[in-house]
Amino acid sequence: MHKQTIKEVLENYKKFLHHDITVYGWVRAFRSNRFIALNDGSTINNLQIVVDFENIDENLIKNINTASSLKIVGEVVESQGAGQTVEIIAKKIIVLGDNFTEELQNTILQPKKHSLEKLREQAHLRFRTNLFGAVFRVRHAVSFAIHSFFNDRQFFYLNTPVITGADAEGAGEMFGVTNFDLDNIPRDEEGAIDYAQDFFGRKTNLTVSGQLEGETAAMGLGRIYTFGPTFRAENSNTTRHLAEFWMVEPEVAFNNLEDNIDLAEDFLKYVIQYVLDKCKDDLEFLDKRFAEEQKQKPEKERAKEGLIEKLENVVAKRFKRVSYTEAIDILLNSKENKKGKFVYPVEKWGADLQSEHERYLVEKHFECPVVLFDYPAEIKAFYMRLNEDDKTVAAMDVLFPGIGEIIGGSQREERLDVLKKKMEDMHVDQEELWWYLDTRKFGSVPHSGFGLGLERLVLFVTGMTNIRDVIPFPRTPKSAEF
Ligand code: 4AD
Ligand code: MG
Repeated sequence: MHKQTIKEVLENYKKFLHHDITVYGWVRAFRSNRFIALNDGSTINNLQIVVDFENIDENLIKNINTASSLKIVGEVVESQGAGQTVEIIAKKIIVLGDNFTEELQNTILQPKKHSLEKLREQAHLRFRTNLFGAVFRVRHAVSFAIHSFFNDRQFFYLNTPVITGADAEGAGEMFGVTNFDLDNIPRDEEGAIDYAQDFFGRKTNLTVSGQLEGETAAMGLGRIYTFGPTFRAENSNTTRHLAEFWMVEPEVAFNNLEDNIDLAEDFLKYVIQYVLDKCKDDLEFLDKRFAEEQKQKPEKERAKEGLIEKLENVVAKRFKRVSYTEAIDILLNSKENKKGKFVYPVEKWGADLQSEHERYLVEKHFECPVVLFDYPAEIKAFYMRLNEDDKTVAAMDVLFPGIGEIIGGSQREERLDVLKKKMEDMHVDQEELWWYLDTRKFGSVPHSGFGLGLERLVLFVTGMTNIRDVIPFPRTPKSAEF
């Protein structure tokens, strides 16, 4: 049976006018014992249900309150009241689920303003709120657009492993995977943990990136992208780090660094434009919320643009492309640095950039998204291609206002001898990565790729400020409920 969603009814109401239809949903508000605002999650908008007392028993009405789940049969009519174009005159109402009204008092389903902290504690109920409904519908649209972008450009979606034997990517601390009985871990003669007896016969971890495996696939399929969960056991309790997040990693044979930057810029703009086109109602809601939030802030901390305006500007303008060396000069000469305003003062070329430096470049100096490239080799991963100057690598980071780094990537070192030397210098185990080195032995080609943190993009698009509020079930240090 085809069930109409509330979104379908509201958007195509002319098709349903004066017909009886059946809708399902949860009560958002119940006014004057007569008007029910019903929502089924398909849209941020509620459908107004008018109780028709000729057909409906008053006793039934007593059991309906906020959060009740209902099945409604009734006629679609043009609305008399202000605020909606269409409503349903209910002829039949069935209460579907029990509602523990006393416990309801302590939940975020109570119709009043709750703090984001409170909402996070009840993450299992967040989906029922306007705010999180909007955030997760937008998150869906972002994910869908990501697949659509790559599919249109003849990339293949590749699933790289979640459990990996390689721990040498250098992207962060790893979570181990084992099925040892932790109270009785086998030891070898020297007393070290005997991983040979573990499930996989070796030490394994949860992946920190699908890149290395992705590269092997790109060396045959040409253009691939991965899109999956990624795990990092770094103890960073910030508003931009998760221990489990979703990363998108395209890898493209025959692309150089400039092609890679072009791809990243096109990609971000496509996804943002898609959300602007497809998520109008949710974005309008988030835009209003964003404006309210700005009003609470001291004037100089307020965003210069509204949320939708910001998204439109990102799509319209070319990202600023700046070398690391130029960026360091700008930072060294900035008033902020000279007056000691940075927590980490910038001292000289070679320094790793902190998020305060990235945000200075993006928000104060250039006032637009910035792509930094050609970083010092020492502060970047072993696989990045060494430039002719012998001190920088063909790396690129895309920096966004309010977020900092949203994408990190590079052209890869395709020359076997240079790659081996880099691995040696950086103490990366070559035996363990024999399969990766093989990709440089049989028709090695220039190639490039990058990684986008999905949640950082969703943060940007929704105007939320804490990354825990844009993933359904956040995993962070000391927190893995639900
Ligand atoms: O810069 P990262 O560490 O790059 C890589 O892992 C490469 N292997 C990517 C590649 O070239 N294929 O991570 C890529 C992006 C970051 O720019 C950031 O957006 C996101 O992943 N990210 C995180 N997001 C949430 N929580 C964390 N702990 C994150 N760490 C990285
Ligand atoms: Mg990075």
